[in-house]
Amino acid sequence: MKTMTASKVLLIYFSLSGQTSSLLAQPANGFKEAGVSVTFECLHQINPIHFPFGSIAATFSMMLVTFFRKRIPIEPLSEKCNASYDLIILAGPTWSYHPSGPILSLPDRDGKTLFAGQNVLPLISCRGYWRMHWFGLRSLLRKKGQM
Ligand SMILES: Cc1cc2nc3c(=O)[nH]c(=O)nc-3n(C[C@H](O)[C@H](O)[C@H](O)COP(=O)(O)O)c2cc1C
Repeated sequence: MKTMTASKVLLIYFSLSGQTSSLLAQPANGFKEAGVSVTFECLHQINPIHFPFGSIAATFSMMLVTFFRKRIPIEPLSEKCNASYDLIILAGPTWSYHPSGPILSLPDRDGKTLFAGQNVLPLISCRGYWRMHWFGLRSLLRKKGQM
């Protein structure tokens, strides 16, 4: 990551059960207190999956497909993502040791336009097993010349 002073931050996030959204309040307040402008962009699933999943079988199935890093299609980003930012924070939950499906979809679809040459900081929301998520996301972003 380049050494930099951020004055404009784009915070892109996905949150299925609300934990990631809650986590974001503190860093966002810290940025604002430091005079940094923060723009939020929430990723929306095209065919929303809801939490809880409804049954043990559905939960097991979700854990299995997410282990294989199934992408979950997301709606197009809003216009505000086309502006220029000093830093992009990419925040979301760990699903079966990996980034969640909506977060995985983003670099696939928009990586070249959104992240190329950008400073990108992943923010992980999880119960404790975050390392594979971190290494996987870093490698995905590096493939597209980010981070
Ligand atoms: C399908 C699924 C798989 C998960 N797998 C992991 C995991 O491998 N490691 C972990 O620490 N937490 C795991 N979790 C827990 C979430 O990462 C954690 O609760 C997160 O804070 C939820 O964020 P959200 O409320 O923004 O969706 C999993 C949750 C779900 C729904």
